[in-house]
Amino acid sequence: MREETKRWIEADQRHGWHPFTPYDAWVAPEHEPLMIVRGEGVWLWDSEGRRYLDGNSSIWTNIHGHARAEINRAIIDQLGRIAHSSYLGAGHPWGSELAARLAGFFPRGTLERVFFSDDGSTAVEVALKMAMQFRMQTGEPQRQGFVAFENGYHGDTLGAASLGGVARFFDRFRGLGPEVRHVSGMAGLADLDPRTINAVVIEPLIQGVNEMRVWPPGMLAELRKWCDASGVLLILDEVMTGFGRTGTMFACQQEDVIPDFLCLAKGLSGGYLPLAATLTTAKVHDAFRGGAERAFYYGHSFTANPLGCAAALASLDLFESDRVLELLPGRIARIDELLAGLASRHPRVAEIRRCGMISGIALYPVSASDPRDGTALCLAARRHGLLTRAIRDTVVLMPPLCVTEEELEHAVGALDRALAES
Ligand SMILES: Cc1ncc(COP(=O)(O)O)c(C=O)c1O
Repeated sequence: MREETKRWIEADQRHGWHPFTPYDAWVAPEHEPLMIVRGEGVWLWDSEGRRYLDGNSSIWTNIHGHARAEINRAIIDQLGRIAHSSYLGAGHPWGSELAARLAGFFPRGTLERVFFSDDGSTAVEVALKMAMQFRMQTGEPQRQGFVAFENGYHGDTLGAASLGGVARFFDRFRGLGPEVRHVSGMAGLADLDPRTINAVVIEPLIQGVNEMRVWPPGMLAELRKWCDASGVLLILDEVMTGFGRTGTMFACQQEDVIPDFLCLAKGLSGGYLPLAATLTTAKVHDAFRGGAERAFYYGHSFTANPLGCAAALASLDLFESDRVLELLPGRIARIDELLAGLASRHPRVAEIRRCGMISGIALYPVSASDPRDGTALCLAARRHGLLTRAIRDTVVLMPPLCVTEEELEHAVGALDRALAES
């Protein structure tokens, strides 16, 4: 191992603290943490010169590949003008343009207001607080409860975490945020008194952190109908599903659903910089018109960061110039084929969960004492040039949208070899 790699690992293990990371395993002598030093297209290189396909799109963020000249140039050009100026008390051209382009994805008179923040969690936090204050300012203060789905994930800030339904992450923090009822599906809504409910929050089409579990077709449209009939707001968390991941620009478009709040992050900047947006309607925004007593008191220092906005504008341009959405069906069909082949060759594959460019490969346990953890398989795949993660015993395969057929074959080939060794 190179001296500098050793030095970086030592400093990491002594001073670093990684998210969602069991620490005994991280610092165990047999574990070699990777130091990623470069990226190009779907590929990542570590400090030892080894190359990996980015099979997890750098935690579901990267869309057009790493180091895309067009996005790099947009960020560099923006740096030459200004890296950051406050969105509090002033605007800037890149925020104006990006807000208009995001609103332009939806029919006129629907999602026409855009509130920027930094991450998926803050996009959700904004929707929650806006919905709460909206009810206070529209004469329905009793509607403060939220409904979320079991095993859902919406981020880690306290409000977003209250919505989270993954017990192992969130149970210790229960009761600290807004009142939330968790239901398992549409049937669970029937037991609730809608008059006390502010909004329902859902990851549309597929729950990501819940091991890539896909909702039944039509469920989103049905939920929209239920919300309309009950006067309940609909918050769609498209932090993972947005920007082409499910095969359309936004997942909600597949069921012709327009929410009251749409939360976007991760892929918004092409996955290059932290940037998030919460889109909402004129009806919601109108409730905040008036004087200081009606304003939305929420914001972060880096809200609408110009570098992030420039990257996002360049990413949206690439969607057009690369004809990204047009090319997706071919890629999606190839993933279907490759993963069906993988499942047929390896009896350890229990189920393939699919939604557009998103795949979850669920594994059977290898023995009765198996902790149902796909980490070992991911480590084996890493030796064959694929970097990805497992959520419990489900291995995620979610490469950037620009992945070629050959690259997909490489990724599935690495899983094939890893499974053969397991
Ligand atoms: C559906 C969903 N919502 C929210 C988040 C939180 O986003 P962030 O990690 O950017 O705060 C995630 C992250 O994985 C997510 O998948």
